[in-house]
Amino acid sequence: ADALPVALVTEGPIVVAHRGASGYAPENTLAAVDAAAETDTEWVETDVQRTADGVLVLMHDTTLARTTDVEEVFPERAPWNVGDFTAAEIARLDAGSWLGEEFAGEPVPTLADFADRLETHGQRLLLELKSPELYPGIEADVLAELEPLGWLDERRPGERLVVQSFGAASVRTVHELAPEVKTGFLGTPEVGDIADFAAFSDQINPRYTDLSAAYVAAIQAVEGPRGEPVEVHAWTVNDGPTAVAVAELGVDGIISNYPDVIARALEG
Ligand code: G3P
Ligand code: CA
Repeated sequence: ADALPVALVTEGPIVVAHRGASGYAPENTLAAVDAAAETDTEWVETDVQRTADGVLVLMHDTTLARTTDVEEVFPERAPWNVGDFTAAEIARLDAGSWLGEEFAGEPVPTLADFADRLETHGQRLLLELKSPELYPGIEADVLAELEPLGWLDERRPGERLVVQSFGAASVRTVHELAPEVKTGFLGTPEVGDIADFAAFSDQINPRYTDLSAAYVAAIQAVEGPRGEPVEVHAWTVNDGPTAVAVAELGVDGIISNYPDVIARALEG
């Protein structure tokens, strides 16, 4: 059949694997990147923090307790804050067994290892600076780590990397340090404040339960730092019917632990 005229082609939202495809493998591990690749998901979200000796590692919680065996390996080190451990200590931990014995021995990845695995699969990175107030200067650290790996390539801004955070100051800092890097603010600003966030945010990414079609449209009506409409990527949607309903609100992206389930629902 002939291709539709461009104006009639409507694209649905992109799907982002949340903490990797974390419905299928331990969150924020290389196994979760592989699981995202197995579901043909290009975009992968993850959470970055910093060790006591300055290494960037991927962990959602600010403590290591829920998703590693740190309480057994270092019983005296409660409350097991990520930032109180060295990279060598964190490398001793098992970040897979909590989800299932088949994942035993899965390490906590460094950002460099995670980026390398994404590169292997040709995937893209939605990188959340998690609790950046605990890690002063992490914005520059992240950029310094990713730049030599080619993730900040000015020739194709925003093609492979978006840096997001609940911390607005942190998002603004990333934008100021590296304007070529796309950024996202995680949250639900008042409509009257959207333009302020759009000065340094290419995306505004709210919890999906906070959305209405009018609110999504209000965000997309504002231009971001590149002069393009600010995008809306909603989290965390884990079933097909909800994904269809959220897509109908007009969002640009849906972040999910089960990206294949969402993609199939949107296709259907
Ligand atoms: O990408 C959005 C989402 O990851 C934000 O919430 O708690 O899963 O980091 P959380
Ligand atoms: Ca996150």
